[in-house]
Amino acid sequence: MGFIENSNKDIYEIQNVRFKKYITREMINQEVQRLAERINKDYSGQKVLFIVVLKGSIFFASDLLRNIELDCEIETVRASSYRNEMINSTLRLSIENIDMFNKNVIIIEDIIDTGNTLHELVKRIESEKPKSVEIVAFLSKPDKREKPIEIKYVGIEIEPYFVIGYGLDYAEQGRHLADIYILDNERQ
Ligand code: IMP
Ligand code: MG
Repeated sequence: MGFIENSNKDIYEIQNVRFKKYITREMINQEVQRLAERINKDYSGQKVLFIVVLKGSIFFASDLLRNIELDCEIETVRASSYRNEMINSTLRLSIENIDMFNKNVIIIEDIIDTGNTLHELVKRIESEKPKSVEIVAFLSKPDKREKPIEIKYVGIEIEPYFVIGYGLDYAEQGRHLADIYILDNERQ
């Protein structure tokens, strides 16, 4: 018996902004499994420290990690911006008290847009002298990139428009949706 998931609407509206179904829960599951298999293979016999970037990555991380067959630790960091709508802005990171020295670190991120968040985070993590640092991102918008960033594990590359669901929010709404929706009537 599976979990009960929320309804499977084609359109979802938040504050009069329309989003349409873009990536189904079935496609999500398939991609998550594919990513987990690659990580299991690449790190076979090694230990990994997964660092989950809150809040957007909570669903992706919990699905991915349940498919990981390696010895691993899990930590979280919070990357919060001061604006909470469709604009990414100034970043606050909290990564204190995580022992990363000489560990294989994999950062779990929901989506990479400009790359600014990850660029900052990778710099901070590298200063803690881990053995290695890689990124697994469920979504990526390559056309929006401002900072060059090497993402070893990418789920799905998408168009440069705003998306919600599967952890991603619009003004803190829509994170709980089991499918991913894309902005319907406006462009970013
Ligand atoms: P970046 O720093 O521009 O790469 O953006 C990183 C963060 O902005 C992501 O981790 C998300 O939290 C948020 N973000 C970027 N694009 C979207 C989107 O389309 N929907 C919801 N959040 C987004
Ligand atoms: Mg994020």
